[in-house]
Amino acid sequence: MKSAEEIRNIIAGLTLEEKASLCSGDTFWLTHEIPEKGIPKIMVSDGPVGLRKQENIEDNLGMNESIKAVCFPSSTGMAATFNRELYGFMGETLGEECRAENVAVILGPAVNIKRSPLCGRNFEYLSEDPYLASEMSTSFIKGVQSKNVGTSIKHFAVNNQETRRFSASSNLSERAFREIYLAAFEGPVRNAAPWTVMCSYNRINGEFASQNKYLLTDILRKEWGFEGNVVSDWGAVSDRAKALEAGLNLEMPTSYEENDKKLVKAVKDGELDESILDENCFSMLKMIFKAYDNIGNSDSFKFDRDRHHDIAREIASETFVLLKNEGNVLPLKKDAKIAVIGAYAKKPRLQGGGSAHINCHKIASFISECEKNSLVNITYAEGFSPSVDEFDEKLCEKAVNAAKDADVTLVFAGLPDIFESEGYDRKHMQMPSCQLKVLDEVRKVSKKTVVVLHNGSPVEMPFINNVDAVLECYLGGQAVGSAQFDIIFGDKSPSGKLAETFPIRLEDNPSYLNFPGCGNNVNYAEDIFVGYRYYDKKKMDVLFPFGFGLSYSEFQYSNLRLSESSMNEDEELEVKVDITNVGSMEAKEAVQLYVKNCETRILRPVREFKGFEKVNLLPNETKTVTFKLNKRSFAYYDERIKDWVVPSGVYAIEIGKNSRCIELSETVNITSKPILPDKYDYDSIMEELLEDKRIEEVLKKYPGAQKPDREKSEVEKESMNDEMENSGFLYSPLRSGLYFSNGYIRYKDIDAALEEINEIISKKE
Ligand code: BGC
Repeated sequence: MKSAEEIRNIIAGLTLEEKASLCSGDTFWLTHEIPEKGIPKIMVSDGPVGLRKQENIEDNLGMNESIKAVCFPSSTGMAATFNRELYGFMGETLGEECRAENVAVILGPAVNIKRSPLCGRNFEYLSEDPYLASEMSTSFIKGVQSKNVGTSIKHFAVNNQETRRFSASSNLSERAFREIYLAAFEGPVRNAAPWTVMCSYNRINGEFASQNKYLLTDILRKEWGFEGNVVSDWGAVSDRAKALEAGLNLEMPTSYEENDKKLVKAVKDGELDESILDENCFSMLKMIFKAYDNIGNSDSFKFDRDRHHDIAREIASETFVLLKNEGNVLPLKKDAKIAVIGAYAKKPRLQGGGSAHINCHKIASFISECEKNSLVNITYAEGFSPSVDEFDEKLCEKAVNAAKDADVTLVFAGLPDIFESEGYDRKHMQMPSCQLKVLDEVRKVSKKTVVVLHNGSPVEMPFINNVDAVLECYLGGQAVGSAQFDIIFGDKSPSGKLAETFPIRLEDNPSYLNFPGCGNNVNYAEDIFVGYRYYDKKKMDVLFPFGFGLSYSEFQYSNLRLSESSMNEDEELEVKVDITNVGSMEAKEAVQLYVKNCETRILRPVREFKGFEKVNLLPNETKTVTFKLNKRSFAYYDERIKDWVVPSGVYAIEIGKNSRCIELSETVNITSKPILPDKYDYDSIMEELLEDKRIEEVLKKYPGAQKPDREKSEVEKESMNDEMENSGFLYSPLRSGLYFSNGYIRYKDIDAALEEINEIISKKE
């Protein structure tokens, strides 16, 4: 590791051209080396669900085969575990793989908010809720970086669709930006210090993320204290000099020196201060030397693919969400007569397409796991093609025959690869019609029907009332079949919870009218009402709510207690609740905490997800779960003062099985500093003035601030009821005294009142 002074000395000896080269990739995956000046190169590789290291570094489009690696479950499933430790452990495992393979930085996690179920990359993202995304990714980053390997949290920011991903502008309010889209990055940046942040392709309110100073410098560095490097998404830079000035450190991948030349010219022409380039080199070299110390120093790190496959199996079983289990049809007995329908049982859809795609070293399917365990009562029928939506009469007939003879039919269905991938968005939320048709025919003859789903994002389920059970497996990674075996036969209980709402139909989704936007403009008109925040506010029925997931066991919540019944906004609230396993099987459960601002004039969601803990319980066992809530747990972002604000009032602390099933609730009264204007004028309205305790006494003296107290004539009584009169008074501006006082109030009276009011305020501030 080099000291700051040594690094500064190296920079002093570099030419302008060399400095420019350090701020860009040398190839698709490597940084630039300058051996004669003692500067080595380091390698970055894609994640986040496995290591996508390309041995052939000459592959300049990065599209060819990567090394054989282990594919873990998709991020969508990882979020559904609601298990920080587990995601942290996956991070540690990936960190070890990177060390063994001399990869300095893994390009993940991807934490963009799932604004629409249609986003082609939803399988790579965590949640519709920023708190869940933030907490889970913090754990992952800490896990990877504990092995002294860097991460690149991506795609910063508001990158929620693939359509026109290089040019679209995500247009949104500051409040939605802060509360929803940035919050998923803020927690991990503040608490896990990722080595790098990857800025996204899109524009935000018109400005490219890669050259957005507000985003990369004002918010990321100044507000959140980020000290690492900002890396561009691959090809996200439009104007390199502008990007550097805005806070970008590294342009990826190589631009074949073209953009280096432009940078040199910008410095020579006096358009870019060379000191910005120097600081940039300093920041890059700090990371390069820190990472380089690891290269060739990885003896204790093994990439034991078989061991990691077993880890992937353990993890995968926690990602599945049991959505329906009528009559406890699951788990199945191993000697039951089972018809297994659907190609995904033999060739599972286990991961999504694009830059996160892993070259799996082996794959476990449900059928192969059944064979390994010598299950003899299984009949398999393909049913439908796994890749195209074409109904095949013969395949369907065979499936129906298999189902007729069985005690139970498992239908392995889902979305084909072509339906969801990086680079484009889905057009609808439906499953292939050939699968739906086969499922319908099969369930008519089956005694019991269980649907096992493989998809990266929600689907509509027209079959939901006609089947007995649904197990959502998302894209479960290369050990998915073994993990399905563990859950379906009850070796373990399912414990996944939905990290996103499943709407009944696409049209219900809040972004429906504005996804994927019009030309390059995507207006985030639903504002902060993303996912459950919208469905709850509109009191809409959903297919499955956020946080939903069944278990083979049952849990009871009791004894919710708060450390305070009233407190100030800056104090911390400790919340404790007991959870008991009242079923007959050992199982895990994610205890969920929601906060509700009971009465407020601010437009807020009904409730917001602010805490979770996953616990493992034996039958009859009780554990106490503790949460700590702070100011941010209660706050909204106020655009007037550009800060987080907790409105004074009563808040309910709710413990729920999901966002629509609250089991226990207690309240706390919070007192906070009100937001008050620092000046009033003619246009200030009575309601605001009268609520301001600082000026109470002045207003008592000012006639215009007294509600008219006089006998109404009969005609007035007929045309104006009390409510109208009251509102008319409260909502009228100070200047209206002039018109509605029969000439009694003149400007001189208003001016005198204003002068006195503003003087008092300025003294008290
Ligand atoms: C993707 C990134 C990825 C990079 C390198 C880009 O197209 O958006 O997520 O890390 O390519 O493969």
